[in-house]
Amino acid sequence: MKTVIAPSILSANFSRLGEEVRSVMSAGADWIHFDVMDNHYVPNLTIGPLVCKSLRDDGIKDFIDVHLMIEPVDELAKSFANAGADLISFHPEASKHVSRTISLIKDAGCKAGLALNPATPVSVLENIIDELDLVLLMSVNPGFGGQKFISHTLNKIKTVRDLINASGKDIDLEVDGGINLDTIADVYNAGANVFVAGSAIFGSENYEETINDFRDKIS
Ligand code: DX5
Ligand code: ZN
Repeated sequence: MKTVIAPSILSANFSRLGEEVRSVMSAGADWIHFDVMDNHYVPNLTIGPLVCKSLRDDGIKDFIDVHLMIEPVDELAKSFANAGADLISFHPEASKHVSRTISLIKDAGCKAGLALNPATPVSVLENIIDELDLVLLMSVNPGFGGQKFISHTLNKIKTVRDLINASGKDIDLEVDGGINLDTIADVYNAGANVFVAGSAIFGSENYEETINDFRDKIS
């Protein structure tokens, strides 16, 4: 199983974002996790498609994993596709027609992911898992970096890994929230293969050392 380390730029220094992205990628990260919050679906406000496009215009070619915590979803999902996103995840509660939103993201040329909050049942995946490229399991309530990992997520990771295996498709299982050197091994052993970490990476002195320590825990 391929493993992916995806630093969340929510915890980066926004006054020098391009530099932060370059340094975390050259430290060995695989994807950039781009958290979009609207002060409506979640009680916080972050960055929009213009910032994604600026990173592209600045020459950043790395995989951009956009996590939309916004409602409604569809128009901004299209804007993010045009701004250079590679993968776009959204929350089912924020879309009136989940399957339609997935199609719209794919038609725009991106991979599509569905994000489940800690209280969202796995049953939302039942009729649509085949359409997805990725399932994003939140291990904190969305809205802020630096929160504590909710440990009952581990059972959910196992359940979703079984669903993915049963589907026979190549679907990534991403976990987001409270991942650090103490929690990453449990998340990996439960069946996740994409690991988002904001504060644990951008809050560390040496990004490369931290990413290497992460990899040691999941190898
Ligand atoms: C929370 C965001 C996360 C957040 C993770 O709503 O979706 O991506 O940045 O931050 P840490 O790793 O600090 O929990
Ligand atoms: Zn996120």
